[in-house]
Amino acid sequence: MSLRRLHHEQPESFAFTPANAEWAERQIAKYPEGRQASAVIPLLWRAQEQEGWISRPIVETVARMLGMAEIRVLEVATFYFMFQLRPVGSVAHVQICGTTPCMLCGSEALVEVCKSRIAAKPHTLSADGKFSWEEVECLGACSNAPMAQIGKDYYEDLDAASFGKLLDAFARGEVPRPGSAKGRFASEPVSGLTSLDVPKVHESNGSVTLATEIGDTVKRIDGTEPTASDLALGRSAGAAEAAPQPEGPAPGEEPAPVAADGEPDRPETPATEAETIGRPEGTDLAEEAGAEPVETGDAAPAPAAAEPAEPVAPSDEDKPELLADARDGGPDDLQKIKGIGPKLESLLHRLGVYHFDQIASWSDREIAWVDYHLEGFNGRILRDDWVAQAKALTADKGDS
Ligand code: FES
Repeated sequence: MSLRRLHHEQPESFAFTPANAEWAERQIAKYPEGRQASAVIPLLWRAQEQEGWISRPIVETVARMLGMAEIRVLEVATFYFMFQLRPVGSVAHVQICGTTPCMLCGSEALVEVCKSRIAAKPHTLSADGKFSWEEVECLGACSNAPMAQIGKDYYEDLDAASFGKLLDAFARGEVPRPGSAKGRFASEPVSGLTSLDVPKVHESNGSVTLATEIGDTVKRIDGTEPTASDLALGRSAGAAEAAPQPEGPAPGEEPAPVAADGEPDRPETPATEAETIGRPEGTDLAEEAGAEPVETGDAAPAPAAAEPAEPVAPSDEDKPELLADARDGGPDDLQKIKGIGPKLESLLHRLGVYHFDQIASWSDREIAWVDYHLEGFNGRILRDDWVAQAKALTADKGDS
């Protein structure tokens, strides 16, 4: 294990961008009184997303925001390898998986490309300052070995040639499509599926689609970026976090379907003034280390809690095709779509949605429009992928 310490050259100062600072305050407010140190990893991570690496001013700033001793924050930053303690490439920091499956499938060739194209040693900037690299342990995509994480995304099924082309593209300012270099959809056999060989509804898997739509692979985060949900639902950036949805419908309404992982969406607890920054020493980390909490009595003034934002009403230009009544033959049984029960079906009828092919044709903006009008059930369209389900049901109807 190499010694991890702060870089010998440090910037003068650090400050979160205003949007990132607001985000950080929301994270801090999630934790109960006296436990604000629990936000240390999210804050360090956000700072790294913004700056690329963790500097001494970042450690000092995060310690101040959480009321922690700087050494405690430094301990966290130096313990976890995900925190970069040296400057990284201005375009990308490349992480090559070198664990056994990737190594057996050729990751050493990728490391050689890094050595010749970026720098002979890891954690060193390339001559133009655009790239840096390191070898990391298994990143969990072994079936698509060898692979590299570049920015926030995985590039898989690589060899020296395809990896070299990726670096060329990044150097030109492009963001190549992540995923398999061999065209695999996910981790099916390279020769193609041998079972469950159903027609594909989407071009790419969910992860690649999101990366392609958001395009933030190697982008530094300044806090103004819309999230995937913001994009799909037509909200302004951060609206979802600032304005939590109710956990379920009002009494008497249809119970909300549970997400695939069995966990309903959890709204964030709005911040109270007492729950924001400026905690005295005496935090989780100090307690873990066996230290007695220390009252300093000079806590910094806490900022006001973020005001919940109203969801943004989508424009009627985004309204999908709606019908005054079902076509001849009557409405389709919309409850065949997983996640639609009697209540949602009647809501959809009231809006003018009666048929699978209507839902199948919705664009992202139309989804956002309908979602906005499904009061109490917001987010269901994307969560249960109604459009894909409706496309399959429309195709079934055509076949029968
Ligand atoms: S061994 Fe490389 S991703 Fe698991």
